[in-house]
Amino acid sequence: MAETVNVAQQPPQSGAGGRAERLWARSMTACIVVFLGVIVFTSAHWGLHPPSRVETIDSTSLHKGGEFSEANLGTSIAPDGSAVVRVVAQQYAFVPSCVLVPAGVPVTMRLASADAVHGFLIQGTNVNAMVVPGYVTTAHTTFAESGDRLMPCHEFCGVGHHAMWAHVRIVDAKQFPFGDAKAKAVSCG
Ligand code: CUA
Repeated sequence: MAETVNVAQQPPQSGAGGRAERLWARSMTACIVVFLGVIVFTSAHWGLHPPSRVETIDSTSLHKGGEFSEANLGTSIAPDGSAVVRVVAQQYAFVPSCVLVPAGVPVTMRLASADAVHGFLIQGTNVNAMVVPGYVTTAHTTFAESGDRLMPCHEFCGVGHHAMWAHVRIVDAKQFPFGDAKAKAVSCG
C-alpha cells in the first residue's frame, strides 16, 4: 500500500522558521478576510450587482438602424415616466457626449460599443460597468439632485482612451424637456 503523507497531521514546526511561517499564514488570512470584507461592504454600500441578464447586439451595424441608430441616441421618456438613455461608446468618444437626464426620476442607461471594449462610470453614483462589443450594457440609477457629473471611459481602449469621457447634466425634472423626450431622444451635446 502506498504511503500517504497528510500535511495537516505533521507536527507544527518549532523555532524561528515555524514562527515566521505561522506569522505569514496569519497575516495572509487577515488580508483575505479584509479583502472579502471590502467587497461585501462596497457591494452593499453602493448597491452594486452583477448583470442580471445578457442581451446581445451586432456591434458592427449599430449605425445602420435599430435601437442605437443616431436618432435614438440620448434620453427618451418611457411610457411609465422613467428615462432611458442610449449611448454608443466608440474610439474615442461617447455619443452623445453630453447626456441630459432629469433628477429624481429612475434612469436606465443602455450602452453599446461600436468597436473595442470600453467602460463607463458616473462619478458619485453606483453606475460603473464595462461596454463589451456584442452586448448591451444596462445600468439603473436615480440622480438625487441636479448638477454636472463626469462620465469617463475606464477601460483602456486604445491611444485615445485618456480623452474619452462624457458629461452627464442632471436637471430639475420640471425643467427637463419632457415633451421633446417623449417624441425623440434629447441630449445636451
Ligand atoms: Cu473607451 Cu477607454
